[in-house]
Amino acid sequence: MKDKSQQSAAGSSSSLTIALPKGRVMKQALKIFAKIGIEPPENMEESRKLIFEDKKNGLRFLVVKPTDVPTYVEYGAADIGIAGKDVLSETERDVYEPLDLKIGRCRMIVAEPAALSAKDDPSQWTSIRIATKYPNITERYFASKGIQVELIKLYGSIELAPLIGLSERIVDLVETGETLRQNGLVEVEKIMDISSRLIVNRASLKIKGARIAEIIEGLRKEVEGS
Ligand code: PRP
Repeated sequence: MKDKSQQSAAGSSSSLTIALPKGRVMKQALKIFAKIGIEPPENMEESRKLIFEDKKNGLRFLVVKPTDVPTYVEYGAADIGIAGKDVLSETERDVYEPLDLKIGRCRMIVAEPAALSAKDDPSQWTSIRIATKYPNITERYFASKGIQVELIKLYGSIELAPLIGLSERIVDLVETGETLRQNGLVEVEKIMDISSRLIVNRASLKIKGARIAEIIEGLRKEVEGS
């Protein structure tokens, strides 16, 4: 029986399928691939198409929701992809992660209203309620500190939760800090630094090894030189 990494064939062994995350990181992802000569045949950002094929160069680009990129790569629907460390830690998909691309940088933090923070002492927390898009990371983080956590899973606008009394605290990503600031919240603990990673399907790594190794090394040079 085929293992999971081979379940969905990402084309023939001569073509390569790349899953790119739509949204914030797409532009930077395209830029870094362009530097090593890998470019979609048309402007992906201005199109509603989800697949872009470059038959001449044996390349196929998929436009994927960022949280789904590791799934496409784990199952071999894409040979390689770009995924945030947040998504990789949350989903724990079985993919090879050879390179930190150093784009999409931000951090995952615990935040709470400034008024609460003024009288709060995180070292005294024993049981807290947290709203987040990242229940697995949150659970693991607080379990490692021996703190009981009641999780409320949300899908966006996490900063709203403490303002409306849904939870006292949140776990979310911070890039510029502007969303926290504009909503009267402050960072109280950092959980981890985040950046986008190149990920590779484990079977593709063997079947398309030479081509993938060339891409990894090309990107590594670009990242280290930047
Ligand atoms: C992300 C994140 C924060 C915000 C942080 O949300 O969840 O809300 O960006 O950025 P800042 O520190 O630069 O203000 P996103 O815009 O992706 O949308 P979401 O609220 O739907 O998750």
